[in-house]
Amino acid sequence: MEYTTLGRTGLKVSVAGLGCGGFSQLGLAQGKSEAAAIDIIRQAVDFGVNLFDTAAAYGTEEVLGKAIKSMPRENVVICTKAPFSFSNPHSTPPGIVSSLDNSLRQLDTDYIDVYQLHGVPPSAYDHALNELAPVLLREKEKGKLRHLGITETAPHDPEHKVAQRAAQDGVWEVIMLGFHMMHQNARERVFPLTRANEVGTLLMFAVRNIFSQPERLRATLRDLAAAGEVPQWLAETPDPLDFLIHDGGASTVPDAAYRFVRHEPGVDVVLFGTGNPAHLRTNIASILKPPLPEADRQLLATLFGNLVGIGLDAPHLSRPRPRASAP
Ligand SMILES: NC(=O)c1ccc[n+]([C@@H]2O[C@H](COP(=O)([O-])OP(=O)(O)OC[C@H]3O[C@@H](n4cnc5c(N)ncnc54)[C@H](OP(=O)(O)O)[C@@H]3O)[C@@H](O)[C@H]2O)c1
Repeated sequence: MEYTTLGRTGLKVSVAGLGCGGFSQLGLAQGKSEAAAIDIIRQAVDFGVNLFDTAAAYGTEEVLGKAIKSMPRENVVICTKAPFSFSNPHSTPPGIVSSLDNSLRQLDTDYIDVYQLHGVPPSAYDHALNELAPVLLREKEKGKLRHLGITETAPHDPEHKVAQRAAQDGVWEVIMLGFHMMHQNARERVFPLTRANEVGTLLMFAVRNIFSQPERLRATLRDLAAAGEVPQWLAETPDPLDFLIHDGGASTVPDAAYRFVRHEPGVDVVLFGTGNPAHLRTNIASILKPPLPEADRQLLATLFGNLVGIGLDAPHLSRPRPRASAP
């Protein structure tokens, strides 16, 4: 594993961070057992991952707490979130504090390393900054959280309006944002600001569905070609990103996707979500590989650098309760 410093938090974090939400929710969203989810977390630890991102909305805080219970607490960086926009768009200060207290109980820990407001839309940013952040900073003084963060709602904020403001407001030490091969606008809009202000970044949406489901990719490129936004040949080939896969280049589309984001200046941690041990292994390996060849990166910029908001789909977060039995 490689480690980096998460902005001005000073936290030493693995460049690969395990996301406990997304479409996998550690496999729980596919009906895998709690024991299997705990195993995914422990395997990630064995590979050197020390940053874990969960949220009240994911239903995985308790599982994460159980998985890390036997480890020294300081060996793990826990990031979790208040259910800001999913279930309570007008989150109140008492509501946020009660969610924080509940997260501490679920995680069975005394403190949260990075406590984030979850999916803040641009229209609610003033409320987050002026009403909620001061309350959370008081909780920070009590020791319940170490650092304050905010996550954008990528599907509803593809221009990164919240991340742009948050990077400059001095309150948020960490920002989570979306960036990938077909949604590259954070390069100009956000990373120069986070770098200038030493704000740590957690990268989401590196692969998601668009780069893990070949039919999803084909359908997206057909639509984009029909709209004149990408060249027609990308709609006429069954494996449109095959040009990335060659000797000295990527081995698979997810490999290309993780390597593309990992080496972008301004990206601190690449979050990856999975409930599949084989994906866990290959994704960490991809994140640790060298950058894609320069010619491939140039081509990705030429073909897709103009696209905004592609492949930013949100999961339906409710799911059946996990089974306690084997996977
Ligand atoms: N606004 C927010 O706060 C927000 C929004 C989105 C995400 N997040 C955070 O970011 C984390 C990462 O989420 P993400 O969805 O962006 O993760 P991702 O790593 O880009 O995509 C994960 C998806 O791709 C599949 N996958 C992973 N590796 C694969 C491989 N090698 N081959 C084929 N399929 C593969 C996974 O399914 P398998 O289980 O089959 O591997 C899963 O469905 C989340 O867990 C969450 O912590 C936060």
